[in-house]
Amino acid sequence: MDLKGKYYRAFIEREKSLEQQYSAARAKKQHDKGKLTARERIDLLFDAGTFEEIDAFVTPENQGLDFGTVESLFGDGVITGYGKVKGRLIFAYAQDFTVMGGSLGIVHARKIARVQEMALRMGAPIIALIDSGGARIQEGVASLTGYATIFQNIIESSGIIPQIAVIMGPAAGGAVYSPALMDFVFMTSYTSYMFVTGPNVVKEVLNEEVTQEELGGAEVHAKKSGVAHFIYDDEENTIFALKKFLSYLPTNNVENSPLLPEETPTPPLNPKLLDLVPDDPHKPYDVIEVINNIVDRNTFFEISELYAPNIVVGLARLEGKTIGIIANQPKVLAGVLDINSSVKGARFIRFCDAFNIPLLTLEDVPGFLPGLDQEHAGIIRHGAKLLYAYSEATVPKITVILRKSYGGAYIVMNSKNLGGDYNFAWPTAEIAVMGPEGAVAILYRRELAAAEDPAALKDELVKKYREKVANPYVADQKGFIDEVIDPSMTRQKLITAFNALGNKWVKAPSRKHGNMPL
Ligand code: HXC
Repeated sequence: MDLKGKYYRAFIEREKSLEQQYSAARAKKQHDKGKLTARERIDLLFDAGTFEEIDAFVTPENQGLDFGTVESLFGDGVITGYGKVKGRLIFAYAQDFTVMGGSLGIVHARKIARVQEMALRMGAPIIALIDSGGARIQEGVASLTGYATIFQNIIESSGIIPQIAVIMGPAAGGAVYSPALMDFVFMTSYTSYMFVTGPNVVKEVLNEEVTQEELGGAEVHAKKSGVAHFIYDDEENTIFALKKFLSYLPTNNVENSPLLPEETPTPPLNPKLLDLVPDDPHKPYDVIEVINNIVDRNTFFEISELYAPNIVVGLARLEGKTIGIIANQPKVLAGVLDINSSVKGARFIRFCDAFNIPLLTLEDVPGFLPGLDQEHAGIIRHGAKLLYAYSEATVPKITVILRKSYGGAYIVMNSKNLGGDYNFAWPTAEIAVMGPEGAVAILYRRELAAAEDPAALKDELVKKYREKVANPYVADQKGFIDEVIDPSMTRQKLITAFNALGNKWVKAPSRKHGNMPL
């Protein structure tokens, strides 16, 4: 066969017609909005020359309904395929807003379902680059069934391969539930939006005027709803951060995360840790400084930084191995546990547990937040999520009590009897049913009322309570913690303990699934 003859020419013509999809005029429409095209996003994500596209030439089924020319519809508004990201196999799909607003018709949906199924079979992560007006209105119920298949695939892959959504334009209607079901959501400020119903519907139904930004902009989802785990100021930075984040994750649930040891290892001893936590339990400090002084240099990658900042969660490395960190943040609301922080912590723990990422808990918590608001909004059932997630997790779990560890919060934050593998405390730890002031007020109510100088008596009793009850040595003597450690040796202790737990294996009795309080 003459490969330079008419067959070859026809093949080349067809290949060229694909490029019409990405004409300068259509690209300009995206660029004018501060957005990249679907193709540019794919190029930024994958290592150069590694992306293999699938189903590039498929067209929508329902072309009778004035959809446009066939050439302009090649691919049906979504690029799907696989390639390498920092050398590892990743699957992805990128919706093209310039084709019918990136809306999801049945062919578009089949393409996504196909890469989802391939990713699951190959045991590789999948990235969804979303820029879509939701279900394609012209295709009616067919597009709804398409979403149902996609949701079903995400749920079947959940806990087996990492699934990450990057919102790069609107995500309206059905388009929001794929990200919501995935492990993490990235958004770009001012160019990405997520809402179940857009501003027009809000106006019709509730007669309220809202902008897309107010309703579902990146800031709203990062700070208020907690839907977005990461926000960045432009698409390049978003994709750059996503690639860095992926380097912490295993490709699937039976593998470990890549080992990335430091060129110059961080020293095991760090005297700076002796000065970071104030002795006075009322004084705040930034727990992120503590984290940064324990883990490998510059490896802490915070998740949901702006949502429920009274708890800090994120991934880091210890001698090159990924660990998950949950830390109370004394700088915000004294690090108290409330509804949002409990849910944030619980979801993170379950992610780490599903993907073999050992957990480190840094504890300094006065308890659960009291009050009408929290009780009426269900702190009982939401706090139970954190308790359940810690207890259920079978990955290595280590706690370091830095300072306060009172009441229910002591139990919840990975205490020994809840399955903590190693529980350390710093000499500054106060472990008790409640803080010294509260305990003295209850236990010595009558004595304080009758005292000539109640303030002086209270000080004396608080001191006595600290000496006798609220210190780490009492818990140490009773075996409720494993060791009181020198803070400067924390990194060394953790490396030794996590290494010892490297082959931890827990076989749970057979059941369909537990009934987690949702
Ligand atoms: C078909 C659509 C579309 C859709 C947008 N377009 N959404 N075509 N089906 N769902 C088309 C527009 O007609 C337009 O075509 C082009 O995409 C660009 O849209 P614009 O409106 O000009 O863009 P913009 O002003 O940026 O607004 C974007 C938008 C808005 C906020 C997404 O288009 C919008 O509100 N769309 C509808 C969102 C929605 O309600 N979707 C269905 C939800 S129901 P032309 O030819 O003019 O360029 C659903 C199922 C629910 O998804 C499942 C729940 C579980």
